[in-house]
Amino acid sequence: MATVNYDGYREDVAGRANVADTPELVQFYRELESANAGALWTVANKIEPWEPVSDSVPMLWQYQALRPKVLRALELVTPEQAGRRVVYLANPGRTDVTAAVGWLYSGLQVMGPGECASSHRHSASALRFILEGSGAFTNVDGHKMTLGRNDFVLTPNGTWHEHGVAEGGTVCIWQDGLDIPLMNALEANFYEVHPELQQAVTHPVDDSTASWAGAGLRPAGVDWAKRHSPLLKYEWAPTYEALQRYAAVSDGSPFDGILMDYVNPDSGGPVMMTMGASMQLLRPDEHTKAHRQVGSFLYTVAKGSGYSIINGKRFDWQERDIFAVPSWAFHEHANGSASDDACLFAFHDLPVMRALGLYREQAYGENGGYQPVLS
Ligand SMILES: [Fe+2]
Repeated sequence: MATVNYDGYREDVAGRANVADTPELVQFYRELESANAGALWTVANKIEPWEPVSDSVPMLWQYQALRPKVLRALELVTPEQAGRRVVYLANPGRTDVTAAVGWLYSGLQVMGPGECASSHRHSASALRFILEGSGAFTNVDGHKMTLGRNDFVLTPNGTWHEHGVAEGGTVCIWQDGLDIPLMNALEANFYEVHPELQQAVTHPVDDSTASWAGAGLRPAGVDWAKRHSPLLKYEWAPTYEALQRYAAVSDGSPFDGILMDYVNPDSGGPVMMTMGASMQLLRPDEHTKAHRQVGSFLYTVAKGSGYSIINGKRFDWQERDIFAVPSWAFHEHANGSASDDACLFAFHDLPVMRALGLYREQAYGENGGYQPVLS
């Protein structure tokens, strides 16, 4: 029988497991294994690391490289066959759970004019960020929304939803973001197809934005009992204007520049229970300081070009590229232009971290943060 190293995670630190293998202990461990049990001290230092250990790899997906493959999917499968015609983003460290980073899934969905995917609902919360094309729409619980470039749309968990492109539109590509891996990790994931495959439009088109996107205003006397945002679509133009106005009166964050969160206008909190989102503006030549956070982030370049350094590795990005920052990875962002601003959309799982009391952040260099090495 091959010798098993049970003491591979020993640490010579008071309070940590530090038990050397002996013939008697190894025999004991084998007896425990055959009883479907184990000695905690053989794995304790591994399963309770000193700080978060992410299996996710910092990643950049270049849009210009992925786009032809996404368009190829348009030729190869129909929405009826595929359910959803999506090319998903695979993180080499998270292929087992189909995550782009951490417990977050993401993919690029493509639809042609006149196409519409079937209506469905699921336990996973979902969002979309529109990358290109005209005529795209989403229907969420009867609220139909028209979508344009850089618009951000919610399809909260439990809501019936379908997506399509109007007859007079063009081929549209949008990014999906879902917490599917988290739902599966929690063993809480249900999926249903709408009994009629398509749901009716039961409200005026774009009514959620007309009702809830007023500047600091909310419909009087309208109760909102649901746990997700009543505002389902956040349009690009007012988002960019808000960033510019904020930038005119604030230095913003040293780590993120001008960063604004998309919020639930009823509660002021995150847009959905498990996932939050933000848009940030980096001023010309701005280069932020590095920090790290408990939580996983997927960034999409809404405007401009530049680079980010993630755990010491540089990733150059341009419009529509997507990059992943794993939990507790140091990261900083730089606008590559001396004359124009750059904008980064991001979604993340910070609502989960905060709800569970797990959120932390640390500036680079604090408490002995390691020195990043540029490559
Ligand atoms: Fe869905």
